Amino acid sequence: AEDGYELWLRYHAAEPAAAAGYRPAATAILQQGDSPTLDVARAELERGIGGLLGRTPPRATAPINGAIVIGTPASSPLIARLNLPLQPLGREGYLVRSMALDGRRVTVIAGNSDVGVLYGAFRLLRLIQTGQPIERLNLADSPHVELRMLDHWDNLDRHVVRGYAGLSLWDWQTLPRFADPRYTDYARANASIGINGVVLNNVNSNADILTPHFLEKVRALADIFRPYGIRVYLSARFNAPMELAHLPTADPLDPRVRQWWREKADEIYRYVPDFGGFLVKANSEGTPGPQDFHRTHADGANMMAQALAPHGGVVIWRAFVYSDTGEDRFAQAYSEFHPLDGRFRDNVIVQVKNGPIDFQPREPFSPLFGAMPRTAIGMEFQVTKEYLGFNTHLVYLGTMWEEAMRADTRVRGEGSTVARVVDGSLFRPRHTLVAGVANTGNDRNWSGSQFDQANWYALGRFAWNPDVSARDVAEEWTRMTWGNDPAIVTPIVAMMMGSHQAVVDYMTPLGLHHLMATGHHYGPGPWVNDLERRDWNPTYFHNGDRQGIGFDRTARGSNALAQYAPEVAARFGNLSTVGDDYLLWFHHVPWTYRLDTGRTVWDELVLRYTRGVDEVRAMRRTWAGLSGRIDPQRHAQVAAFLAIQEDEAQWWRDACIAYFQSLSGLPLPAGVAPPA
Ligand code: GCU
Repeated sequence: AEDGYELWLRYHAAEPAAAAGYRPAATAILQQGDSPTLDVARAELERGIGGLLGRTPPRATAPINGAIVIGTPASSPLIARLNLPLQPLGREGYLVRSMALDGRRVTVIAGNSDVGVLYGAFRLLRLIQTGQPIERLNLADSPHVELRMLDHWDNLDRHVVRGYAGLSLWDWQTLPRFADPRYTDYARANASIGINGVVLNNVNSNADILTPHFLEKVRALADIFRPYGIRVYLSARFNAPMELAHLPTADPLDPRVRQWWREKADEIYRYVPDFGGFLVKANSEGTPGPQDFHRTHADGANMMAQALAPHGGVVIWRAFVYSDTGEDRFAQAYSEFHPLDGRFRDNVIVQVKNGPIDFQPREPFSPLFGAMPRTAIGMEFQVTKEYLGFNTHLVYLGTMWEEAMRADTRVRGEGSTVARVVDGSLFRPRHTLVAGVANTGNDRNWSGSQFDQANWYALGRFAWNPDVSARDVAEEWTRMTWGNDPAIVTPIVAMMMGSHQAVVDYMTPLGLHHLMATGHHYGPGPWVNDLERRDWNPTYFHNGDRQGIGFDRTARGSNALAQYAPEVAARFGNLSTVGDDYLLWFHHVPWTYRLDTGRTVWDELVLRYTRGVDEVRAMRRTWAGLSGRIDPQRHAQVAAFLAIQEDEAQWWRDACIAYFQSLSGLPLPAGVAPPA
């Protein structure tokens, strides 16, 4: 059935002419040496080439014309003899080269480690899937970021927090006995995009995951993922020593607590010898943490990091913190973490959400990027679309992440992009990290919609190389997922590339943020102002009244802008340079304030809400035009979801215009339909 289960690894038969062109360069596979990872690399090539070219390449034992020779200098005497320039590629890089070997034309896929070979195998398959030539290859690639991770917000009862794709993939009930083949398909998909770590459980964690009952199950998953180069991590609850061992405290400086974590780490490594480490959400939205014991984030993180260090594990400590202190929520993470720069052990990574608030449709970059030169700072993106219309809204996140990565922090002069903080080239931390909050579940199509698969795909590609082009990624994914026909590729890529601006327009244009309905964040709620916490209320964020709208973060307001480098603060802080996209993030302006477009803020707001809905209508038309070119089952699902999206975009527009009009009291610009 065409239900999307195969993801981008479809391997359906290529056009006959194309397949005939590829076959001479894929006649056999020559694998010297055995390892679980080399075996899965070969199995993937067999499966992929078998599907795409209609003939599964047999194993060869000596070079023949058209053979694909896979291995490392250690596994393969043939590859060792070639003296390939592998050294600069690091542990996970690879070469894919067309060359002569003993007088035969072959394609060599080589790495310094088996997992590099696996990545190279997926690269070769991608070339065929996307219709690229493969007979004169000279490719070298390696990841720019060390830890490329998915964070699953999966509870142990299989509820996925902010998940719109069914239940958790991890069936704790049948683990460890039943190795659902789906776990292997999950690992294949991740390996194909270079993901090398997964956090199995929710950041709001349940300490039970650290007990032997669950560790046996965790081991089973780790064993399945290992050949694919994927390590398992766990979200650890900071007060686990109290909850599990009934210690009177979880104070990170208390010797009993330190010993408990040391022993716990030792125990975990007995189950999972290559365990990756802990992800910790501490003193955030009510979770326990070191501040409960009057210690700092650094004290807490270092204590856990010390327990993991003998085993090579890391602590990933989240910087998503805020509390009702009266300080602008935008500023709180920086206020708490910036003073701790240089105080974290070198196996601690501080994981920062891309923006200062919480995965809004568009956020300026968090001022923590660039602000902590003596700390490893990792990027946390949200793949699941909590604030972007859930699974039914077609929103490609690649463009949003590209915007985040290319933002210039200016902390070391021009070109100090967020990407360079994250890939480590600016400050050279010991570890680098890009993580995405996963959008997967047990839905047949994994992500809850066909197009949300693109966001999983893009996360891997941005983690591999934060400077990748969103358009290139969209095109690759489209070719692999929908087909190589330009009549398919061009409209789909165009749709994807415009989709993020569309959702920004119909939800939160001009720099508005956090207007979603309470709790579930489904649909609009800009009028809500009665929540117990000030900084949960949409009215706190838009600050609209009869006169104007926007959050003043200049020196006249919260002055959060002062957390940026002076050039960035000056640009965002000045009405003439801030730009429309971020206007209301940083300024409170009268409704009648005139933008560069010549229109008032009020008119522009209404037009953008309207434009957003029009954009969704245009996507529907584009998609309808693809009918007959795409298998009917997937086509119908996307078409139905776009219809839902149009309704909901209209709902957003109408609700927001009606509400904001109740504040501004201004008429709609001429020719614009009134809210329904
Ligand atoms: C958001 C989300 C929560 C999540 C939190 C986090 O606020 O709504 O469900 O727990 O982010 O990142 O910790």
